[in-house]
Order: sequence, then structure tokens, then C-alpha cells
Amino acid sequence: MKKIVWIFIIALIGSFVFVAVNNFLKKEPNPNLEKGYTEEEVAVIETLSEENKNYLLETNYHPNLLEYFAVENMMEEKLINYIQFHETYGLNLNETVYIVNHNYDDLNVYDESTIAFMHGDYYIHEYLNRYLAYQTQLTVSFDSVETMRDYVITAVNSNLDYAFYTQDYAVDLEKNELILVNKYYKLPSDYVPENLVKIEYPYGVSLMLQATVYEQYKLMWEAAKSQGLSLYIRSPYRSYATQNTLYNNYVARDGKAAADTYSARPGYSEHQTGLAFDVTSPTTNFDTFEYSKEFEWLQENAYQYGFILRYPKEKEYITGYMYEPWHYRYVGVDVATKIHETGLTYEEYYAYYVR
Ligand code: DAL
Ligand code: ZN
Repeated sequence: MKKIVWIFIIALIGSFVFVAVNNFLKKEPNPNLEKGYTEEEVAVIETLSEENKNYLLETNYHPNLLEYFAVENMMEEKLINYIQFHETYGLNLNETVYIVNHNYDDLNVYDESTIAFMHGDYYIHEYLNRYLAYQTQLTVSFDSVETMRDYVITAVNSNLDYAFYTQDYAVDLEKNELILVNKYYKLPSDYVPENLVKIEYPYGVSLMLQATVYEQYKLMWEAAKSQGLSLYIRSPYRSYATQNTLYNNYVARDGKAAADTYSARPGYSEHQTGLAFDVTSPTTNFDTFEYSKEFEWLQENAYQYGFILRYPKEKEYITGYMYEPWHYRYVGVDVATKIHETGLTYEEYYAYYVR
């Protein structure tokens, strides 16, 4: 009798333990599984952040969840944005990820033309409406949608959707050696750079440049000299008053339209920044410098000292000036190197990287 009681007690304890262990081991049914996600999807969901998990729990079944994870550059922390964007606009997932990653997901409408712009090199999102408007005004035809798109981006980034001398944006002097001065960006008439120094190189002429620019020019001059070449600065810093006189003389001589192709109006000249200079060799002038060994050397080496050719050939429509093989601008070695490599004008570079 005693034995039976003991067996009963042991069996009772045993079943309690069995139920407890079983309950401990048994998983709650995953609510996501109940929503329709597959085991594979649930396994992925379980690796996600609490925020993502909660979102998936609180919203309806998303049929292509795993496909997001296969898209290049997909960022898990943006999963909710991808899902919401995709469900609103119905664009494919590659496009969805691209647009969300770039923070271009704030428009009301997405069409082919808009998306094409978004894939352009140097696309600036806040200029989109200007790109679209400029595109409708084009009268030239293009080989492809991409060529047209790139042309429009270049033009608008350089402000060509506005006529020259119609905007007068104040030059952002905080940008220091990266300031942009052109037919849209104007300097105050009383602006004089703080750190102008006299140039005593190479021939002791009484002309000025900003100190850093002059230091870099000296290095460049020495390097050219070591190759048997000679650089000769013709015109570095020019005050507002000097530019005023120069420009007015050109207008008197050639008329305003012609003068505007080669001379800046006062306040709009890079020469007033002390960051630019006109250089030739002692034996060439502005007309012949292009054919000199010195020019050839500058083409290959000026960037290493932080200088760019500011008004290149075939970029007249962007810079607003005729080709000037003699006019160099200091932007620092890193930026000059990037410009040398990309072939961008400073207008384009500034819009995309500096502004
Ligand atoms: N020749 C250049 C454009 C100037 O006048 O500043
Ligand atoms: Zn010049």
C-alpha cells in the first residue's frame, strides 16, 4: 500500500516536471507565421531590429520582403521607408532602394524623366524642378536621353537657366579659396582679400596675390624651371577699380557684347580675389601662349600645385568666357586634382561639391 502511494507521488511529480519542461521548451506560435510569412521570412524577420519587427507585426503581410534584402546597397535601417515608398509609388525595388537611400523620396509624383535625372552624375535634388523646366525649353536634339539629361544637369548646375548677370548672388566668402566668382556670383565693390602679398617672382614686378597662392606659384615656377621652362605672371590681383577701368576700356574699344566674352564686369572678376592670375612665358603673349612648352607643362602639372585652368576650350557656354589658356585659379591641390581627373569646370564642381 505504501509502495503504491510512493509510485503515485513520484508519477505526480514526474508529470509536473514534464509539463514544466515542455512548456519551457515549447515556442509560442510566431504571429508573423500566422500572417502568411514563410519560415524563411520569419527567420529573417527575427534577426531585424525591434523597430522593424514591430512594424512588420503591426502592418499587413508584405509579399516581397526578402527581395529587399537582395537589392544592392539595401540598408536594413531603412526597411520601413522602402516598404512605404514602394507601396505608395509602385516603383521596382532597385529604384525604391536607390531613391530612398539618396533621400529623394519626398516628391508627389515619380515619372520616367524625373527618375532619369536622379540617376545623372552631379544630380542635385533641390534643382529638379529647374532641370525639368530647362528640359522643356531645349531646342537642340540629343543622341540619347542620358546625353540630354547630362547636358541639362550641367547647364542648370551652372545656372545657365538664368541669363548671365541677372542674378547677382553674393559670393560666399566663407568658402575661402573655394569661392566662386562668375557672371552669377558677385563680389562687393570694397572687397579686398586680407592676405595679399607682393610678388617678387620671377622679375620683381610690383603685383599681388594671396599669400598661399603665391607660395604655391613659387613651387610651380621652380618645378617648371627645373624642366627648362619659364613662367611669367602678367596679371594677378586686380582691384575693383582696376577691373572697372579695364572693362570700360574694352567696352569703348570693342563694344559691350564683345567685351563680355573676354573681360569680367567689375565685381565679377576672379582677379579681384587674389586667387587667380594670367600667366604666359616671357617670350609669348596671350595669343601665342597656347602653343608654348610652358602651356603644355601647365596642362599636365598645374593641378599638383593647386591650380586649374579656369576657362577651358569648349566650355565657354558654361564659364561665360572665351578659352583663356593663360588664366589659372588656385583651388588647393585636392580640388585641383579632382577637377583635373573629372574635367569639370569650376562652375560644375562648385555646384555639386562646394555650394
Ligand atoms: N578675363 C577674365 C574673365 C576676367 O576679366 O576676370
Ligand atoms: Zn585672367
